[in-house]
Amino acid sequence: MAKSKKRYVCQACGSVSHRWQGQCPDCAEWNTLVEDAPATVFSQKHDLSSGGRAIAFEPLDAPGEALQRRTTGLAELDRALGGGLVPGSAILMGGDPGIGKSTLLLQAAAKIAGAGGDTVYVSGEEAAGQVRLRASRLGLADAPIRLAAATSVRDILTTLGGMEPPALLVIDSIQTMHSDTIEGAPGTVSQVRGCAFELIRYAKENGVALVLVGHVTKDGNIAGPRVLEHMVDVVMSFEGERSHQYRILRSLKNRFGPVDEIGVFAMAGQGLEEVSNPSMLFLSGRDEPLAGSAVFPALEGTRPVLVEVQALIVRLQSGATPRRAVVGWDTGRLAMLLAVLEARCGLNFSSAEVYLNVAGGYRLTDPAADLAVAAALVSALADRPLPPKSVWFGEVSLAGEVRPVAHSSLRLRESAKLGFDAGYGPNGKDGGGDSAGLNYRGVTQLANLVDRVMAAT
Ligand code: TYD
Ligand code: MG
Repeated sequence: MAKSKKRYVCQACGSVSHRWQGQCPDCAEWNTLVEDAPATVFSQKHDLSSGGRAIAFEPLDAPGEALQRRTTGLAELDRALGGGLVPGSAILMGGDPGIGKSTLLLQAAAKIAGAGGDTVYVSGEEAAGQVRLRASRLGLADAPIRLAAATSVRDILTTLGGMEPPALLVIDSIQTMHSDTIEGAPGTVSQVRGCAFELIRYAKENGVALVLVGHVTKDGNIAGPRVLEHMVDVVMSFEGERSHQYRILRSLKNRFGPVDEIGVFAMAGQGLEEVSNPSMLFLSGRDEPLAGSAVFPALEGTRPVLVEVQALIVRLQSGATPRRAVVGWDTGRLAMLLAVLEARCGLNFSSAEVYLNVAGGYRLTDPAADLAVAAALVSALADRPLPPKSVWFGEVSLAGEVRPVAHSSLRLRESAKLGFDAGYGPNGKDGGGDSAGLNYRGVTQLANLVDRVMAAT
């Protein structure tokens, strides 16, 4: 009989090696390799190329059911999910401890239960009393949720098998689940993978929308094996500064929708509130456009925030050296942009004081701010407001070209969400690939922008 091959799985990253080593060759963690169950004797003894049943192939256009989505009752959650929960789908929700995962899911479960959907909330982390306490604090104590504190997947699936499948099943969290068919403590790679596999199979067979809460490691990745992210249909990440109110729900993978939609919430005393206008914090909110003001759709990590860039230009009569003062942006970058405007666009700033301010105390580090700053400067110089409800982004090169920047469609989407209707940015596929309903105009050369602003009335 062939010698069965041992395999060792890293408990930190899930990589497989065929011999034990002190350090994982993939993630360089120490003492994380653990022997995994060997491949079955059957599979080693038998050739798998015969003896199976024939499978039927289907054409791609075979008639099937249209995707039915169930709204969660929280518009921001629906938006991040790409339109709502898909029955039979598995969602992994990751996030720092205390960010509000349990709160969000309890609120969503209560909304669904209130709308007549059967929901099951299994907490492996908190006792039922703690969840009840939170529910009463959230004012949801009367929501018809089936609540249980359990960690055994066998118990959970046995119970669920004996009842009508619920519309939503929340498992909080997958790291606390335990399967007695697999060796190891809860939270180890094989346990997490095995438990997730069983729960996902139940969800797919019964058309249940399954939400697995996942822990994250200190560098922000979802803890446990990467394979968990492959197994589920949707990976969501709940982010934010715990000291701040705002929380962003982002989807990192979505088999049923786009991944650049975000949901924004604020943590209040009564749980999470939906925020439909988060980026307005950095906008002045006035309707009348002013000369010297341009709106820039910035990216905070991968989260879009709209900020207002203000420029003021004062002509000096005397021959004194004009001042350049910047708040919230890089002074060197402003000097470069002024030089490009002078050299490539024929504008003259040499006898003018230039003041630049980013509203709301925000600090811009995104190179895509160049075009917005340039637009604000030109608008201030010409004393003409930019087109109303417009956003500007793009990197400006020394040659005066507007270069493509990352995540154009994310910026445009966020701008459209906040009611802007015109976007100016880099030309080409990258820039206008998906303009999210905005009137998008590509700008190839900084000189085009100058002509446009100067010609505007
Ligand atoms: P929780 O949902 O338990 O976080 P997670 O499940 O992601 O670990 O949220 C806990 C935090 O949220 C806690 O630190 C307090 C805060 N919170 C509020 O500010 N208001 C509330 O109504 C609730 C329920 C929690
Ligand atoms: Mg929790």
